Amino acid sequence: MGKDRVHIFDTTLRDGEQVPGCKLDTTQKLVIAKRLDELGVDIIEAGFPISSPGDFNSVSEIAKLVKNATVCGLTRSVKKDIEVAADAIRHAKRPRIHTGIGTSDSHINFKFKSNRDDILERAVAAVSYAKSFVEDVEFYAEDAGRTDNEYLARVCEAVIKAGATVLNIPDTTGYCLPEEYGAKMKYLKENVKGIEKAILSCHCHNDLGLATANSIAGVINGARQIECTINGIGERAGNTSLEEVVMIMRQHPDLNLDTNINSKLLNDTSQMVSEKMGMPVQPNKAIVGSNAFAHSSGIHQDGVIKNRETYEIIDPADVGVSESSIVLTARSGRAALAYRAKNVGYELTKLQLDKVYENFLRFADQKKEVVDSDIHKIIETSDVNLAS
Ligand code: KIV
Ligand code: ZN
Repeated sequence: MGKDRVHIFDTTLRDGEQVPGCKLDTTQKLVIAKRLDELGVDIIEAGFPISSPGDFNSVSEIAKLVKNATVCGLTRSVKKDIEVAADAIRHAKRPRIHTGIGTSDSHINFKFKSNRDDILERAVAAVSYAKSFVEDVEFYAEDAGRTDNEYLARVCEAVIKAGATVLNIPDTTGYCLPEEYGAKMKYLKENVKGIEKAILSCHCHNDLGLATANSIAGVINGARQIECTINGIGERAGNTSLEEVVMIMRQHPDLNLDTNINSKLLNDTSQMVSEKMGMPVQPNKAIVGSNAFAHSSGIHQDGVIKNRETYEIIDPADVGVSESSIVLTARSGRAALAYRAKNVGYELTKLQLDKVYENFLRFADQKKEVVDSDIHKIIETSDVNLAS
């Protein structure tokens, strides 16, 4: 049986780029958009066109450039926003307007100083207006994570009637637990009339480190789109990380879910975004961190040298990393030293290795990491007869 397709909606250039310090110019955004298209994302959220003339220009140029993905522009539930977004994406092969409004009580009472009925009317009006420009209209219920399910279902039903093709259920504050977020999706699937006409979408923030877990709970419970960013960049603690959700679905065939992503481009795309945005990737970041396939303790190194799968659940080549690395530190064992020594040209006998290892430990205690040039030094000063 074929797997169910989960659409990947990349918002690196919108939710990701709104982070202080991550701002890009149009040329940089075009390079990233082209790469996202090659990577196989289904939707590129190119920006928030009304926010500035520069952002309008970027969205418009991306709309002209992108060949395969849908190009989407964000709006508030405001007529002018929608008109400007429609103008910015008018050259896209597949244009989408992403409009919405806050639906939680705190958004309704404090941000809008309004009431539930008024917000529902504004949501419907925004979707209907967006629909007069494009066929594909996504609606977001901002702070859906803290919105009462019954009211959220009412809003969803009304915007589907108005023509929404996708319903975005953002956990804007990163508050939900995976069970809770999954149950919200299930509730909407079971209680919204007309839900079969729309795709439910996960949009999770990472304030409690749960964005990836929540998005996966969302798709397990019926959502078929995940909104995410490269390296998980985004407001505050960030958004769901694209590379993580893609590889979770790949590595768990039992979920019966997959995406269109060419995972071999993940590592390179991560580095490209990190460099362009000046946002370093933490070394222990899942999938794309520099330590994601590095082994440094003796026990693990011995296992990986015998068989990679003892300590690796992903083949590094599948995400564009040429090979796992065996890092030499004072915690490394003989097997790792022999392996790295062989890589730089020394085939050591057992006796030679014992001698070199003693010298290695003395050296390694003084350094964070022992590199190739150190290995030469260690072997040459180890009093071993290399000819024997
Ligand atoms: O986090 C959020 O709620 C958003 C919406 C604007 C989609 O980014
Ligand atoms: Zn967001």
